[in-house]
Formats: sequence, C-alpha cells, structure tokens
Amino acid sequence: MKIDLIVGARPNYMKAAPIYRALKKYPTEFQCRLVHTGQHYDEKMSHIFFKELELPQPDIFLGVGSGLHGEQTGKIMISYEKEVLKDKPDVILVAGDVNSTAACSLVAAKLHIKVGHVEAGLRSRDRSMPEEINRIVTDGISDYLFTTSRDADDNLQQEGIPKEKIFFVGNTMIDSLNYYLPKAGEEKYRFNDKRILKRGYILVTLHRPSNVDSAETMKGLLETFATIQNRMPIIFPLHPRTQKMLATFGMDKQLAQMPNLIITEPLGYLEFLSLQKDAFLLLTDSGGIQEETTVLGIPCLTMRENTERPITVWEGTNELVGNDPKRILERTLAIIDGEKKTGKIPDLWDGHAAERIVEILRNMK
Ligand code: UD1
Repeated sequence: MKIDLIVGARPNYMKAAPIYRALKKYPTEFQCRLVHTGQHYDEKMSHIFFKELELPQPDIFLGVGSGLHGEQTGKIMISYEKEVLKDKPDVILVAGDVNSTAACSLVAAKLHIKVGHVEAGLRSRDRSMPEEINRIVTDGISDYLFTTSRDADDNLQQEGIPKEKIFFVGNTMIDSLNYYLPKAGEEKYRFNDKRILKRGYILVTLHRPSNVDSAETMKGLLETFATIQNRMPIIFPLHPRTQKMLATFGMDKQLAQMPNLIITEPLGYLEFLSLQKDAFLLLTDSGGIQEETTVLGIPCLTMRENTERPITVWEGTNELVGNDPKRILERTLAIIDGEKKTGKIPDLWDGHAAERIVEILRNMK
C-alpha cells in the first residue's frame, strides 16, 4: 500500500510522527512518502519539529509558504496534484484542521485516492473559524475517519457519515506527548530563567485571528496579563502572527515593559513540553494544548467562547473563558488562590492511537 502522509503546519507534526513510526514497522506492507506542503516554513515553526520528533526530511516539499486562505489552499492543491499525478498513492493520511489538511484531501478525493482523516469529527460549531470549514470539508470527503473521542463519532453520524467509515482510535498527539515526555524532562530542554520555578508560572499562547487581529481585544488581553504577572510570572512564546500584530498595533513595547512577563520566540516541541509539564496554569487559544494539559493534569483556561474538543472540558482540566479580560482575570486569580479543576484522561488517549490506525490500514488491504 502506497501512503502519502501529509504535514503542513506546526500542529501537524506531532500528530503525524507516531503514524510515520508505526508505518515503518511494516516495510514490506507500506511504502510511505512524507509530504510537507510548506504552509509553515521557519526553523521555529517547522524544521526544529522535524529534528525533535525524529522525522526524516520530507520526500516531497511543496514549499507553498504564507498567503491568503484561498491563495494558500489553491497553491497547495496545484502543487500536490502534480506530485500525485506523477506517482499515485493508494491512500493519503491528513491530520487536524489546517489549510494543508483540506487542500490535500480535495486533491486526493477528486483523483479517487482514499483519504484517511486523523482527528476527524471535531466540531466547534463556529464557522467563522477557518479550521471549522477545513474540518467539515475534510470529513465530508474522507474514506477513513479516525476519531479521538466518542463525541466526534456522534458529530459525524449526525452529518450522515456511515458508521463503517468511522474508527475511534484515540489521539496521536497524545502518542507523541507520552513518547517524548521523558526526553522533555532532560536538563537541556529546561527553560533557563530564574523566575521560572516548577509550578510557579503561567504559560501563555495566543494566535487565533479572533484574538490577535483586533487591537481592542489585544489591548484588553495585555492589560489582563499585566495584572496577572504581578501575582505570578508569565512566559509567553510569541507566534509569528501575534508578533506581527503586536508590532502593527504598537503594543510590543508595552509587553516588553512588564517585569514578570517573559517573551520568547516560538519554542521547539521539547522545550515547550518541558515548560508545559511544569507549569502552574496554561492560558491559551490553541486546540492541541487543551488536550495536552488534560493529560498532564494541569489547569487550562482557553481564551475562546467555544471548543471543538469539549471532552477536555467534560472530563479534563480545561475551562472556556473567552476573551473578556474580566473573566480571564477572575478565573486565573481563583486558580492561583487554590480553586483548581481536576480531571481524568479520556478513553484511548493512551499512547497507542497510531498503532490502531496502522492496524486498521493493514486490514483494509
Ligand atoms: C495555522 C492554522 C491553525 C493552527 C496554526 C498553528 C490554518 C487555517 N490555520 O495558523 O489552525 O492553529 O497554524 O500555528 O491552517 N508565519 C511565519 N513563519 C511560518 C509560518 C507562518 O512567520 O513558518 C507567519 C506568516 O506571516 C503568516 C502567519 O504567520 O502569514 C500565519 O501563518 P498561517 O499558516 O497563515 O496561519 P497560522 O495563524 O499559523
């Protein structure tokens, strides 16, 4: 079976790496090409993840780079179609909800190549998010829908997707978390700053257009961070989009003046995991971090009004706080004062999801 494993943006790499490893265990059964669209292309947004997750150089690099959504999606489709016409895979595997996921799925489906979607069925029910559109499109044309939780199975069935196509396998992002957690504990990945003490800091990430593209929202968030860092140090690795918007709004200096807020570049997988596992609290608008904190048992306040990962709220340590400064501050201070949410690890988030996916593919032949 010839398989194209697609990656494009930062959240794809840790979902794909365990699948790559699991496929490589059967060299006589699978011929796997690693395809990188180049949606993310920086050392810090891409290359470092390949090194740390022990992925080889991609077999195919499309090099599309940044752009408007239509432009980026279109460029990926044009380039990937050419590759597929040269050498046609039997199956492509895409992960998550980024533009690369939807673009490559569309190309494959139209050329009658089977599509396997890893992390299928998640729904925020918020179509103003580009990721929600990517999820709906990808799921609608996929042949194998690999889900991380039972609510995702329900979402898919409600949309008319036959049960036979849906496979509840668990979470490949958690496969990577479990696999790399011991390594992330090594001294060389520890963040070096005297203010950063185990369970004594808040880790912040922010990059959603709904949070960072508006000056007013950003201003409110920065004021909240200014108050919080008086109680507990904050570490804030800046996503390129956030960095760009802060500079555009002239707010970068304000951020630099907060004495207990430490700004860094985007961090590699292991350094970020090391910071995450020892944090007191995560304040984020990321998707994956909601899941990782649930497994690590660390409180997470998600600065969004909705989530496509409700299991992290029902069963895990996650709580939605939107982007209202007052609400974020109230909840953060309450947690600092001891009001912590505890949770459990969701079903099948056990480090073996990729192996289940590969077993399903072996039985398909
Ligand atoms: C994309 C995903 C989002 C995911 C996020 C993780 C979509 C629709 N969005 O959003 O779901 O959570 O990745 O990061 O696919 N840039 C760089 N270097 C890079 C890549 C991007 O500097 O290597 C800058 C560019 O200025 C670019 C901006 O970041 O315009 C945004 O990148 P883009 O890929 O468009 O979207 P993300 O916001 O990263």
